[in-house]
Amino acid sequence: MIILAEKHQKVVLVGDGAVGSSYAFAMTQQGIGEEFVIVDINKDRTEGDALDLEDATPYTFPKNIYSGDYPDCKDADLVVITAGTPQKPGETRLDLVNRNLKILSSIVKPVVDSGFNGIFLVAANPVDILTYATQKLSGFPKEKVIGSGTSLDTGRFRVGVAKKLGLDPASVDAYILGEHGDSEFADIDEASIGNVPLVKFAADRGVSKDDLLKIEDETRNKAYQIINLKGATFYGVGTALMRISRAILRNENAVLPVGAPMDGQYGLNDIYIGTPAVINAQGIADVIEIPLSDDEKAKMAASAKTLQETAHNGMK
Ligand code: 2OP
Repeated sequence: MIILAEKHQKVVLVGDGAVGSSYAFAMTQQGIGEEFVIVDINKDRTEGDALDLEDATPYTFPKNIYSGDYPDCKDADLVVITAGTPQKPGETRLDLVNRNLKILSSIVKPVVDSGFNGIFLVAANPVDILTYATQKLSGFPKEKVIGSGTSLDTGRFRVGVAKKLGLDPASVDAYILGEHGDSEFADIDEASIGNVPLVKFAADRGVSKDDLLKIEDETRNKAYQIINLKGATFYGVGTALMRISRAILRNENAVLPVGAPMDGQYGLNDIYIGTPAVINAQGIADVIEIPLSDDEKAKMAASAKTLQETAHNGMK
């Protein structure tokens, strides 16, 4: 029996596939969530992963990691849902909607029935629709249900821009907005580096707006590229989920790209979509609406329409 500090934090991961176990590994490396429970229909996998991950703790941070079940959610601070079918080469995220909504409905009810009263973080695809469905199925306040949204895509865009300009990706202040999927777009006009507008910073160094648009396109297609090369993506999203979890569990008030509920922002309602938001122990403390150009407003509206139509058909 591992003795943890009395006031430790508990995370339950539901879905121990490649994304879930990469997230568990990232959380182990960072020492976040001192009690970490893994739930999956494949019990051999969760037991094996718990044993494997605990072997990392002598060299990182103390953590009680075990294979569990839905009743373990009762006193959890955070439940992270990664369970679902991943895309096969050639499939879009939206193609997964019916299959993954079915899986999601079998998860949310037993989590809620456990008495869980913490925060949901959803990463299964199509993530914006599944986050919306988690909020509806759970009846939780909207701010207590968070989607991974465009966190991964934002990271990808920052990496692309940073490589082009020879910078650290953490120094690129730019966001991908909209669907975590094919209709997403980069907020290039408001992005900046060292407080200089990105377009100007890049132009001064011989990088044109067309070059930035090319990076946006590569960002949109990077998941397909990785899936074609190795069958799935997991380290990037596992780490983005760790970052959001840290902001929640450490009450950071961090501004992060997530899937957030719209309440009039960007002229949208009744939808979760990718935007920056302030994340703390309460969940989504503040949804940040970026003042977009008309062209970008149209892209946000088109992305929302795609999501709402797919959600409507999927939830019928
Ligand atoms: C990704 O963007 C497939 O949604 C997953 O890597």
